[in-house]
Amino acid sequence: MANQIAVIGAGLMGHGIAQVFAAGGHRVVVQDAVPVALATVHERITANLTRMADYGLVAADAIPEIVGRVTCTADLAEACRGADIVVEAIVENLALKQELFVRLEALCSEKAILCSNTSVISITKIASPAKRRERILGTHFWNPPYLVPLVEVIRTEETDDACMDVIMTLMRDCGKQPVRVNKDVPGFIANRMQHALWREAFAIIDEGICDAETVDVAVRNSFGIRLPVLGPVANADLVGLDLTLAIHDYILPYIDASPTPSATLRRHVEAKELGFKSGSGFQNWTPESIAETRNKLATHLMEMLARQRKA
Ligand code: NAI
Repeated sequence: MANQIAVIGAGLMGHGIAQVFAAGGHRVVVQDAVPVALATVHERITANLTRMADYGLVAADAIPEIVGRVTCTADLAEACRGADIVVEAIVENLALKQELFVRLEALCSEKAILCSNTSVISITKIASPAKRRERILGTHFWNPPYLVPLVEVIRTEETDDACMDVIMTLMRDCGKQPVRVNKDVPGFIANRMQHALWREAFAIIDEGICDAETVDVAVRNSFGIRLPVLGPVANADLVGLDLTLAIHDYILPYIDASPTPSATLRRHVEAKELGFKSGSGFQNWTPESIAETRNKLATHLMEMLARQRKA
């Protein structure tokens, strides 16, 4: 059944999340506090879908209908009117998110399910000033939301299981790969693992074991290529848990467990070497190499999705 869904925040994530729901057949209202952010929503969604059509991920003749399901407004009350589900994708700021959820609760029907796309903030904290906390949960999409399959659906201690079920089903029906996160912990599931890996990558550079480029070469040419087929848990079963235990007994004391960020990472930031944003970071980047890397990533994601859908 088609829902009416409000997406609050028309930025990088918000417009892409709106696209996912519209492509899933739902009516979507996008709201943003900055009207100029709304002016390009249709254009951005059309451009994303047009590129996806080249890979057979959407039928080109379906694009106008999908885009037509999305409307935009700067008026929060209008966005909330009749909304079954709201997904918040505003800036990553706890106070602003808390204030928004209190307003959403006042403006939406009692039955509406309210979701936050926060990357790292506790859903429990975001929900804390609200009254109907049982209808609040996390829906953590990955960037770009229309290409990366995972959505972490996060339950707080107060979230109603029926709301979790509705959102899990909605995400599945929209072609996403939702996973249920049973505890509202910082980093949820995938970012905890991603940043454990990044911490070790930076520690290897800090310790002079190899340079930054070599870290990425090593990952991309070893376990990196296995990951789409074999996650770390199935991989442990494959190599044998006795061997995994022996390796962990030996190696864990040598792996970085620092609770503070890498010294080299901090030095780069203090020197305003921010990566793509400034042209240098762990590596040097030109406008051409930045464009080439972004393009390679988008192409890789679309080819992978196209292969998955054929399989
Ligand atoms: P963005 O900066 O591109 O967009 C945020 C939008 O929210 C802007 O258009 C801004 O005008 C609007 N906004 C700010 N305050 C508002 C308010 N009170 N009411 C309505 N609109 C408001 O940010 P982005 O990257 O889209 O991130 C949005 C959320 O998604 C954040 O919580 C972020 O942590 C999370 N997220 C971001 C990812 C990423 O890769 N950028 C990945 C996963 C989650």
